[in-house]
Amino acid sequence: MKKFYLTTAIDYANGHPHIGHAYEKILADVICRTKRLLNYDVHFLTGLDEHGQKVEQTAKKHGITPQILCDSIAQEFIDMCTFLHISYDDYIRTTQPRHKAIVRDILQKLFDKNDIYKAEYTGFYSTRVERFLQEKDKVDGVWPENEFGQVMEITETNYFFKLNPHKQWLIDYITSHENFIFPKFRAKQVLEFLREDINDLCISRPKNRLAWGIELPFDPEYVTYVWFDALINYISAVGYGTENFSEFWPVDYHVIGKDILVPAHAIYWPIMLHALDLPMPKTFLAHGWWLCSGEKMSKSVGNVVDPLDYAKQFGPDAFRYFVIREMTVGQDSDFSHELFLSRYNNDLGNDLGNLVSRTHNMLQRYCKNTIPKIAPLESPENDLINLWSKTRDSTLDAYDRLQFHTALEDIFTFIGAINKFLEIRAPWKLAKSDKPKDRERLDTVLAVSSEAIRLAATILAPILPIVSQQILEIFQVKAIAWGKQLEWNNEYLFNRSLSADSIILFPRF
Ligand code: ME8
Ligand code: MG
Repeated sequence: MKKFYLTTAIDYANGHPHIGHAYEKILADVICRTKRLLNYDVHFLTGLDEHGQKVEQTAKKHGITPQILCDSIAQEFIDMCTFLHISYDDYIRTTQPRHKAIVRDILQKLFDKNDIYKAEYTGFYSTRVERFLQEKDKVDGVWPENEFGQVMEITETNYFFKLNPHKQWLIDYITSHENFIFPKFRAKQVLEFLREDINDLCISRPKNRLAWGIELPFDPEYVTYVWFDALINYISAVGYGTENFSEFWPVDYHVIGKDILVPAHAIYWPIMLHALDLPMPKTFLAHGWWLCSGEKMSKSVGNVVDPLDYAKQFGPDAFRYFVIREMTVGQDSDFSHELFLSRYNNDLGNDLGNLVSRTHNMLQRYCKNTIPKIAPLESPENDLINLWSKTRDSTLDAYDRLQFHTALEDIFTFIGAINKFLEIRAPWKLAKSDKPKDRERLDTVLAVSSEAIRLAATILAPILPIVSQQILEIFQVKAIAWGKQLEWNNEYLFNRSLSADSIILFPRF
């Protein structure tokens, strides 16, 4: 089996889960589920980023230890993942011994190679983003307060990781690997950052300023800078330094938000890996932001969407559907309650939910709850079958290109076509006739719609895992790997008895 390794960003333990975190996990989950259905051996990693000044400060404010704060935040994030059916294989927390040991090994290795040196540094420090700022961070001559918060000038002796020796190599690598950054247009932003000299990365914090971190192996007066620590999760979680490691590395996708592509992921991380003689990640997938009326969601503005509120009210699959349908991967998207309701009631309730329940009801009423035989086909049936094969091909292609919103558009066009097919064939009228030909047509129409619904549910599984399973259970079909499951098959459902219970997939609100 082909291996497929995917990671998400590890979320900061100093805040609660919001729609941005939820979206990223859902996007990652959808990708992993498509790969599993295509028979890949998937390893899906997510987790929590627990060190740093903000976590220390928040804990202090609440009068608890940072570890207790992290434990409770970890539970919130894990609960969110569980509720949204995020099928991760491993959840890493940067306070785990397995992670800390590898961070220290790596620091020692780089120190021994002289890639890390000690120096005095005076610079402007932002606690909000936990780093020294550079001239190029300025906008109109100042460091924007909404981005960096309060900025302080400090002089400190610290440890630095050399970046410049790798700069030309990185430029060449990015230029010659067009799949390294997705969407492609973001590579320009990375190359822009590399145009000037880059300051070496300050990878330590003196303990008297910040104690909540991983102690440097070569100097107990210091802890590790949180980003240097956090990035290493991607390799510590899959056993860097052990034999198993090469089964996973290089990673297929690092799924992250656009705000953490430059410099952390596209500059620091490749250089860290290069200094360790490790192969590069195959692709950084930088998604966009969820906005609220055009603004980034933030606690201070008070426009944060709690994903669990929506998922609890409308169901996890409805929430998954909405975020995947509305966001073009890589672009920003606006969240609005009205839009959510409209997608829920129209696409999910009317188009999909009603289709399933009325087909099920007619099979119960007219066909003794058993899928009848498909008789000779005419053009309405053939049109639907042809549309399916187009839909399947375009959807699989869209899944592969991460164009999930167009995949959903195509699948729901197909679902609309099943509804139209029923309107044209009007089985409720055929049921009133005693002519054997009409009876045969009635059976065919319901069997054809059932097969079409089975296929739609099967291809929707990565995005609507629960609803897909509920639909397939009506037909007593088990969801397994794709392949033949996605081929139109007149025999597939023949003679199956249906589950007796009617279900309402999407109750009205
Ligand atoms: O950045 N819309 O953690 P984080 C979409 N710990 N995505 C959003 C978003 C929004 N409104 N807000 C945040 C960190 N995100 C670091 C990562 S990785 C080694 C360390 C995304 O909790 C954000 O872009 O601030 C990031 O990918 C993820 O949520 C976690 O953000
Ligand atoms: Mg953030």
